Amino acid sequence: MLTNYYPTLLAIHSTLRWFVLIAGLAAIIGCLIGISGRGPFAPLGRVLGLIYVSFLDTQFLVGILLSIASPIVHAVFSNPAVGMKNHDLRFFAVEHTTYMVIALALAHIGAVKSRKATDSVKAYRMAMIWYGISLVVIIGGIPWWRPLIRI
Ligand code: HEM
Repeated sequence: MLTNYYPTLLAIHSTLRWFVLIAGLAAIIGCLIGISGRGPFAPLGRVLGLIYVSFLDTQFLVGILLSIASPIVHAVFSNPAVGMKNHDLRFFAVEHTTYMVIALALAHIGAVKSRKATDSVKAYRMAMIWYGISLVVIIGGIPWWRPLIRI
């Protein structure tokens, strides 16, 4: 059963957050460098974007498994009337997931739009805007009151 892996999944999910945040920041800094240097989008912009979206996709998958294993999510779905009134329970069962799905969609839109852009400055600009907005949504959706590091 997945519930046996709950502590492991929680530690992986908590740690992976830093990889997502650092990769997102690196992708945006790469775009700024690309725009100011007017260099080609590949490989810098493409590779940094790919790393960011890949970490985010992985985090999404771990998040889905965590939701299946989580006693918090179980508590909400076993008694929604009570669970939805509790901020922490509702946050993880509904708000956190919604924020992160939106962020994931924004990052993927950025990857597609930058790939389709007609020149490198436009590609960097597209990537910077969409990755930037997705990163802001992620930062807003992270439960910062929980441990910053979990081993
Ligand atoms: C749609 C995708 C996601 C789902 C379904 C999801 C699901 C969850 C769930 C259910 C929990 C609570 C687990 C528990 O305490 O029982 C959680 C916690 C957390 N999530 Fe997500 N998550 C997703 C995406 C993300 C992303 C993209 C980030 C950050 C980059 C993130 C960062 C965190 C953090 C920092 C915690 C707290 C972990 C801890 O207390 O150590 N999640 N997530």
